[in-house]
Amino acid sequence: MEFDVRSTSGLPGKLPSGAVVVVGVLEADGKAKAPPRLLRGGARLDALLDGKLTEFLLQSGMRGKVGESRFYHPGLAVSAAGFLFVGLGKEDGGEKAFVDAVRAAVRAAREIGAREAFLFLVAEAHWILDVAWRVRQAVLAAADVLYRFERFKSEKKEKPALKKIIFLVGEQELAVAQSACVEGAAMVEGIRLARDLGNLPANVCTPAHLAQTARELAGEHGFKCQVFEQKKLEKLGMRALLAVAQGAREAPAFIVLHYTGGKAEEKPLVFVGKGVTFDSGGISIKPAADMDEMKYDMCGAASVLGLFKTVARLALPINLVGLIPAAENMPDGGATRPGDIVTSLSGTTIEILNTDAEGRLLLCDALAYARRFTPEAIIDIATLTGACVVALGHVATGLFASDDALAAELLAAGERVRDLAWRLPVWEEYQELINGRFADVANTGGRHAGAITAACFLARFVKDIPWAHLDIAGTAWKSGPQKGTTGRPVALLAQFLLERVAARAQDQEHAP
Ligand code: BES
Ligand code: MN
Ligand code: ZN
Repeated sequence: MEFDVRSTSGLPGKLPSGAVVVVGVLEADGKAKAPPRLLRGGARLDALLDGKLTEFLLQSGMRGKVGESRFYHPGLAVSAAGFLFVGLGKEDGGEKAFVDAVRAAVRAAREIGAREAFLFLVAEAHWILDVAWRVRQAVLAAADVLYRFERFKSEKKEKPALKKIIFLVGEQELAVAQSACVEGAAMVEGIRLARDLGNLPANVCTPAHLAQTARELAGEHGFKCQVFEQKKLEKLGMRALLAVAQGAREAPAFIVLHYTGGKAEEKPLVFVGKGVTFDSGGISIKPAADMDEMKYDMCGAASVLGLFKTVARLALPINLVGLIPAAENMPDGGATRPGDIVTSLSGTTIEILNTDAEGRLLLCDALAYARRFTPEAIIDIATLTGACVVALGHVATGLFASDDALAAELLAAGERVRDLAWRLPVWEEYQELINGRFADVANTGGRHAGAITAACFLARFVKDIPWAHLDIAGTAWKSGPQKGTTGRPVALLAQFLLERVAARAQDQEHAP
């Protein structure tokens, strides 16, 4: 998929065959059956075409409701250039209405079999935020609609014909729209990597596969990658991570990524991603129904890799460390038993009451390891608890943080790219639920507040460093017949970094 921005005057007089021009229309208010209203781009084209577009709209029965669409091609050949009208609803429609309209436009363009789409639509919806926002969201929405994962289908569905989307904007908007397009396209690449990895089955996407992917990514973009294997993990003392892996045939791996786009003296941000390539629950085995979905239990790891891809694409001037503890959680004769006690890397002893609460075990060793980079902040991403899905459903990622400013930044970034998160507390009062009976800490806190007690467990290992935890159990993938990954929260995290970089650039400009 290719995205580009051109000024409206750059619309070629004669469109290539297979191209479609997408214009927005507003729902007419008042009178029933009134035809929708053309906006800027559409009105200009209409004038050039002696009112043919208005004529078509009049007899089309279209109302202009959000996502409604009609195709009009003056010629006869289906492949010839034509016009796609897409409803934007009323002028007071919000961000979601805009995104829905773009999704409908892309879907319709694909249905028609268009190979290129020239979109007036995005510049036309001028009442919704700014053009940079609209372009970036349109890129994200289009890529989401067009995403396919067909690696294991013998018969591929017809290749998505739509190859290129061109946003047409006003001359003065060109520069900001272009950089928004570049940002969006880089996010899309990171999202695609995260989605592909998550959709791979667990017999392909093993800890070794995650490690190999990390190495290739680092090689491709010229940053550093280390992979620690079993022996090294034993030597380091990552016994909590090892306890998760010990019932599996697949060996664990601990992946360390170093991206150094910033100044040498600048403290890094550390991103930690849960990489459980399959979560059977271990001896505390899960029920059979939907257990296949536990191949997605490495989506935290995938989002770290995706984020690094986006950041490297944009060559952001920032220092990052990525940590991925990867293991498979399986039950065999050597598996960890409920009640087993291990000493984690930090020295804290853990009573493993439930082997299905494995995410926090491998994360706690990664978090303890993260401290050695004296990071500016630590952010972990994990499909950590079913309780978070119960609390927030599939709409919002659960956000937990020890630092209010960091939490606010992440929430704002998520709202900006509509990759939403909602904050839950990590108050001290919850900590007593996970005090250990026979060891320092227990890995479960009972039925109540499961997402929070999981976060409280992690907090014990981060200690005084500003920290945020994203529980993506409900948002990293969709269930049901169309099950599959979403790529969340790569967009949220990328936006967070983009805004940090922009804010810093401004500070420096204003420095004496
Ligand atoms: N990977 C799961 C969390 C999960 C559950 C993600 C459902 C997505 C959908 C995690 O390892 C887990 O099993 N958590 C347990 C913790 C419990 C045993 C304390 C859970 O949430 O049930
Ligand atoms: Mn589990
Ligand atoms: Zn898990």
